[in-house]
Amino acid sequence: MEHKPVYYSEYLELNKIIDAQHPVSFEKGNQPAHDEMLFIVIHQAYELWFKQVLFELDSVMEILRKPSLHDNSGDMQTIVHRLKRIATILEVLVKQIDILETMTPMDFLDFRDMLRPASGFQSWQFKIIEAKLGLAFDHRHGQHYYTSQLKESDVALIKEAENGESLLKLVNKWLERMPFLQDPSVWNEWTAQQSPAEHPFWKTYEQIYTQGLSEQEKNNANYFKQIFYGTGESSDRSLSPAAARSGLFIMLYHGYPLLELPFQLIDTLLEIDNQMGNWRYRHINMVRRMIGSRVGTGGSTGAGYLQGAMEKHYIFKEISQLNSFLTDRRTLPALPKSVTDRLGYSF
Ligand code: HEM
Repeated sequence: MEHKPVYYSEYLELNKIIDAQHPVSFEKGNQPAHDEMLFIVIHQAYELWFKQVLFELDSVMEILRKPSLHDNSGDMQTIVHRLKRIATILEVLVKQIDILETMTPMDFLDFRDMLRPASGFQSWQFKIIEAKLGLAFDHRHGQHYYTSQLKESDVALIKEAENGESLLKLVNKWLERMPFLQDPSVWNEWTAQQSPAEHPFWKTYEQIYTQGLSEQEKNNANYFKQIFYGTGESSDRSLSPAAARSGLFIMLYHGYPLLELPFQLIDTLLEIDNQMGNWRYRHINMVRRMIGSRVGTGGSTGAGYLQGAMEKHYIFKEISQLNSFLTDRRTLPALPKSVTDRLGYSF
């Protein structure tokens, strides 16, 4: 089949991208500030990568929305592969701060006041990434002003993402569907009507776990019941007890081939949180170095807001919290053959 030859710069529409840097300080009547070009380019590069992150994220969420997902399927491979790509992009975005830090605070002051009230705070793509990953409005720091400087059309996009089913919610549903623990046919002496606390695996595991707790950690025995059986006061948790049980089971037994991909999925979510946290940390330090304790151009308290957001905005914290309930391999209960047969490959 014949096709029109593709010309590099037309294909990439470079005429648009390369002609999209217009420093305000270069406008007539202003004094050109050399570093404003870097400031623009770096923000544009971030926004392009945010676009790619959203593209990957949307595709992963679409697969997870399917009513069923085989843990040993191509779909699982694709999800893990694309989530890893997101984590790698974020890692590069953390490194990009190095380039911006070649600008000194005085270089920045040469044009900073001309930018008000523009700020990365108005990056609707960043807020949509947070919301799609699973940062709910109720858990946001600075709720009353996080969209205050944005145009209505951009606020609408963020609200749409917040009202949709996030990756965290989809992962919760996927974990709830995990078959091995729920299937009474593979667990002797257990019927689906019995409570999870009476499940032969969890009964044994809870005992082993609580026996291994030190004096200062004894309270974890109560948390175990709350998180994995849903007993006690119900809080606004994102992981249901059934999902938490599956998550812990995957973490404990990921040496079995069938649990390796599910483990990588969970682990990559923690890596995404890790990289977002690294970015927030580097960004705050850069902000302190650049503007000290002055308020941000976007209208927040500046570094104070960013510090609060960093502490509060870990999205997959309930998944990393599951790691407090692991026990070492030597004490791990052996699984019945009916289960291990399903977790491995037989030739
Ligand atoms: C001179 C460099 C920079 C300074 C001084 C700076 C300063 C700030 C400040 C003070 C805030 C708090 C909100 C406000 O403006 O009131 C903020 C938020 C933010 N900035 Fe920057 N920033 C810089 C570079 C960047 C770059 C290169 C990006 C890349 C996109 C970026 C992305 C963001 C984002 C996404 C937020 C919101 C963070 C959140 O809500 O947790 N910033 N920035």
